[in-house]
Amino acid sequence: MDDKELRAVVASAVRAPSVHNTQPWRFVGRVGDDDRVEAIEVLADPARMLEVIDPSGREMHLSCGAVVEFARIATRARGEACEVVLFPEQGRSDLLARIELRDKKPALPEEQRLYRAVEARYTERGRFDERPVPEDLREAMRDGATLFGAWVQFLDRPGDQVTTAVLLAHADEIEVMNPLYQRELAAWVHEEPRAGGDHPDGIPASALPDGPVRERGSSFRLRDFTPKESQSERPPHGEEPPVAEHPLVMILGTPEDDPRAWLLAGQALARILLTAAAEGLAASPMTQVLEVASTRAQLAGRLGLVGYPQIVLRMGYAHGWPTTQRRPVEEVLTSSHKGSENSH
Ligand SMILES: Cc1cc2nc3c(=O)[nH]c(=O)nc-3n(C[C@H](O)[C@H](O)[C@H](O)COP(=O)(O)O)c2cc1C
Repeated sequence: MDDKELRAVVASAVRAPSVHNTQPWRFVGRVGDDDRVEAIEVLADPARMLEVIDPSGREMHLSCGAVVEFARIATRARGEACEVVLFPEQGRSDLLARIELRDKKPALPEEQRLYRAVEARYTERGRFDERPVPEDLREAMRDGATLFGAWVQFLDRPGDQVTTAVLLAHADEIEVMNPLYQRELAAWVHEEPRAGGDHPDGIPASALPDGPVRERGSSFRLRDFTPKESQSERPPHGEEPPVAEHPLVMILGTPEDDPRAWLLAGQALARILLTAAAEGLAASPMTQVLEVASTRAQLAGRLGLVGYPQIVLRMGYAHGWPTTQRRPVEEVLTSSHKGSENSH
């Protein structure tokens, strides 16, 4: 892979989802004597960690795990064999992964399919169609998670759905009442485009559905990204009751709960979202319940989960498209030549 291909891989990788679109990652291309890229390293950017909702960096690692899998798929789509090594250097907790490039090996049709889905994938916060998610797709997503040692539990039983909805609403109340939470959220939500273009990170108004979240016919409390002060300006809904929503809801979890497990969960999340996007489905994470320690523990206990829940997702057929932006490749990628101390 040459420098141009490396830039193309990174441009595709950064389309990965990240909490509040913080994009808490950096890339280093390791270049050999023959000017070919030998490895792509993914590093955390802790300056972009959300200190209020994510003090442990769990969601930062999830986001970075997703970008690692997106980068791996983009590498494979270019016909390069590769191996992902998590935490390749002892004592360097910022160096999350090294994607080591090997010989040429044509991409499998499934890898090409996932790669094509990168541009279509986005977070859908509006309503989904009533069309159920097919059984074989559910199985494919479950298999995708298993590749990374993660598990998926679909919330099919009404009792599990009620438990999750109640705990989610409770966690959301706790967060919303915290002024520090509101301040952190407001820093990453952009109601207006900035002069001369869109914001390169954070969540734009175009990625949020119209109308107040609390008046939705969803039993699952979606995160309210509207800054508190502008909420009263939103028009109330009419006399009609809201349309009931019945998305597929699933929990992705891992047997352990440490930075390695969070990266693996992020890789599994990427795989699940691309598998779904390739079939025309979209999803949105609902992570408030996992950001409050007590509700996270109760969710695991009451649902009888074996291990640690890492992401709660709602999913279905939708008609939206990606509207969030990404930082330019030059801002996140440096190259380092063998035998040289300098990066450029
Ligand atoms: C770990 C993680 C947690 C997230 N939590 C939420 C959430 O609670 N609510 C939500 O609407 N979106 C959530 N998202 C989605 C991000 O906001 C979204 O990926 C980001 O804004 C980029 O937009 P895109 O997915 O449309 O490309 C989460 C994403 C990740 C990776």
